[in-house]
Amino acid sequence: MPSPEMQVFDTPAGMRSWSLGRRAAGSRIVLVPTMGALHEGHLALIHEAHRRGDAVVVSIFVNPLQFNRSDDFDAYPRPIEADLAACSAAGVHAVYAPRASTMYPPHFQTHIEPGALAEPLEGSGRPGHFRGVVTVVNKLFGAVQPQIAVFGQKDFQQLAVVRQMVSDLDMGIEIIGLPTVREPDGLAMSSRNRRLTTTQRAAATCIARALQVAADMFERGERSAPAIAARAAGCVQAEPEARLEYLQLVDPDTLQPLEHLEHVEREPLVVVAVWFGDVRLIDNRLLTGTRSA
Ligand code: PAJ
Repeated sequence: MPSPEMQVFDTPAGMRSWSLGRRAAGSRIVLVPTMGALHEGHLALIHEAHRRGDAVVVSIFVNPLQFNRSDDFDAYPRPIEADLAACSAAGVHAVYAPRASTMYPPHFQTHIEPGALAEPLEGSGRPGHFRGVVTVVNKLFGAVQPQIAVFGQKDFQQLAVVRQMVSDLDMGIEIIGLPTVREPDGLAMSSRNRRLTTTQRAAATCIARALQVAADMFERGERSAPAIAARAAGCVQAEPEARLEYLQLVDPDTLQPLEHLEHVEREPLVVVAVWFGDVRLIDNRLLTGTRSA
């Protein structure tokens, strides 16, 4: 249902005063943090936000602090008018879209330092990335004052690092994680997909194929992580447009690499990062096959 009265704020003070008013009136505020260029994956989070509370806030902010490459930051799509229209059409009550100069004025100097969960995978490939993510998420929580925040499992490590921050720092915000929304051919929806050429877009289906190969092998009883990883990686390596950065089987709680899968407590997680030209895509999948080898 469109919301003609959707509020748009660009300062933390304006945002917080609206939120505190809604909270005083008894609303449950649910925040969906985004960097814009909204797609069906974001819309699924917004839909869930409506189910969880009665004041839905979407933040749109391309956070310079979490980009380790300035070319990626500069090229990140920013279709703000289309995003506002999408939020309005999705019944969002308020959008928080601050400027970078408001979020990070010249004297800005305080950061949140995440721990071990932020070190492997995206943390080692993108130094400083999660420090930037948790710092901005904390600032968004401060401005929006939500009781609940909704994130996607597409960024599995981000979700884990945010949950850890909320727990470690006693923030008292409920964190909801939602499954990845995919294109019909299996490609995980991502704002970066729109930067792919037609050839790269066709090639990008190798990521979903790799995850499927891993899931099939685990389902059939294969319990060697290196054997599964090698075969799945082969799907990406066979694609000339793709350059594999990593493909690993990890423990979904610690994100540390797994070797043998016989005695794992929880489903192993396959995580993958692949480059297409200068566009970097990530994806993941929990392996939920039968446990007995
Ligand atoms: P962004 O990439 O815009 O993603 C915003 C939220 O949408 C994240 O929680 C992400 O996991 C989720 N999401 C992205 N693609 C999805 C998909 N295909 N299916 C389901 N959910 C999906 O993640 C960020 O922005 C930023 O790091 C942010 C948390 C906003 C901090 O700057």
